Formats: sequence, C-alpha cells, structure tokens
Amino acid sequence: MRTKIVAGNWKMNKNLEETEALLGELAAKLPDTNAEVIVAPTFVNLASAVNQLSHSVIQVAAQNMHFEENGAFTGEISADMLLNIDVDTVIIGHSERRSIFGENDELLAKKVKTALAKEMKVIFCFGEELEDRKSGDHFNVVESQLKNALFDLDASSWKQIVLAYEPVWAIGTGETASPEQAQEMHAFIRKTIAEAFNNSVADNVTILYGGSVKPNNAKEIFSKTDVDGGLIGGASLKCDDFMAIVKAI
Ligand code: G3P
Repeated sequence: MRTKIVAGNWKMNKNLEETEALLGELAAKLPDTNAEVIVAPTFVNLASAVNQLSHSVIQVAAQNMHFEENGAFTGEISADMLLNIDVDTVIIGHSERRSIFGENDELLAKKVKTALAKEMKVIFCFGEELEDRKSGDHFNVVESQLKNALFDLDASSWKQIVLAYEPVWAIGTGETASPEQAQEMHAFIRKTIAEAFNNSVADNVTILYGGSVKPNNAKEIFSKTDVDGGLIGGASLKCDDFMAIVKAI
C-alpha cells in the first residue's frame, strides 16, 4: 500500500508570527486521516515550526538544501543543518528552483544523493513546460528529468523518495491539469520506473500531483489510481483550504 501524502509548500511566505498562527490552526483542525500531512515553511521558521508541532502528526519539511557538507556557500543550507533541527524531509528540484535559480539535473542529482546519504526523505519535483506539452514532448521531458536525477540510484534508495509531478503551466496559474492528464502522466512515470528498476519500486513509490490543487478539484484528482496525494502551494497558506484538501484524500 503506497503512502498517501498532502504536503504544503509555503514558498517565500509567512513571517514567524504568521507561521505560528497558521500552524496553530492546522494542528487544532487537522482531521483524522491516513495520509501523511507535511508543511514546508521558509528556512527561518523551520526550527520554530518543528518545536510548535512537536506533539502533532504534522511533519515539517525544508523547501531546498545544498549538496555540500558545509563551507563557503553564502546563503545556502546544508543537510546537517536541517537534521540538527529535526527536519529530515526536503523538497528538491521545484520548478522555481530550476527556472529562477538555474538548478539543472546535474545539480539536483547531487542534492538528492546527499539527502539520501543523510537518510532524509526527498520530495523530488519535476514537470514539463507548457510548450513541451503543446509540442507533445511532455513525456520525453519528464522521463529525462527523472533519468538525469534519479536513475543512478539503487533500488533500495527509492524508499526514501517521494515524487511530485508538477506541470509548470499549472503552478500558481489556476490552470490545473485535468484528473485524466494527471493520471496519464503518473501512470507513465510509474511505468518508466518499473522499466528502469522493477515493479516493486514502481508500485511502492508515492507520486504526488502539484499545480493549482484546490478544495474544489482535489477529490477528483486524488481519486485517480496513480495519484497518491498532492504538493500544494497557494492553497496550503490558508488553513480551511489546506484542511479541505487533506479531507479530500
Ligand atoms: O510545490 C507546489 C506548488 O508548486 C504548487 O503551487 O499554488 O499551484 O498550488 P500552487
């Protein structure tokens, strides 16, 4: 049975007071669910979030990390720094890291390798641009992103990997992929992994969908066979919306 997950990527939002307020609401209103619920506040609020949620099942993740152990990398955060504050889950490869900050497959592969070596859980993001889909190249793009960052791993590493398919054209746009589009790509991803590794790895890897998931579309998207939950942006910043999405899984 695959793990179901609803994760909130807060991106560059919420100061300390706003973070504490939202987390207090989420912890108080979290419904009974078999899904894992994860929030990813900004770096500066992670330690406070971990402390505040110490008696909650809600997990805390980082939105990024560097692959080096330590050193002259101004502005960066290492895996050990995250682990030191009890954050053992990290989002890697978000499309904004790729497009705005120039993170390519080679760099992302290094980040994944470091995170796995530190026994962290990785939420690995990938997805095609609108022009890729319009040209019918979206399957090739997704396959390439997966192969370049993850296919050198050994099969045992995949128990630490969560995949997040996020079509770039659906992120922050309100233009959600249809449930059928999500299922089609998730099934393709699972087949690609089965061919590269084996059926057990493919059948057990959690594949999240991200890109304008909202309370009014979550249930249908999450109902699809190969969709195991969501990576939520804007709707994760509002308690009632995020809780509605958790209830949808
Ligand atoms: O990482 C999740 C994010 O990219 C999706 O954003 O606002 O479209 O839910 P949003």
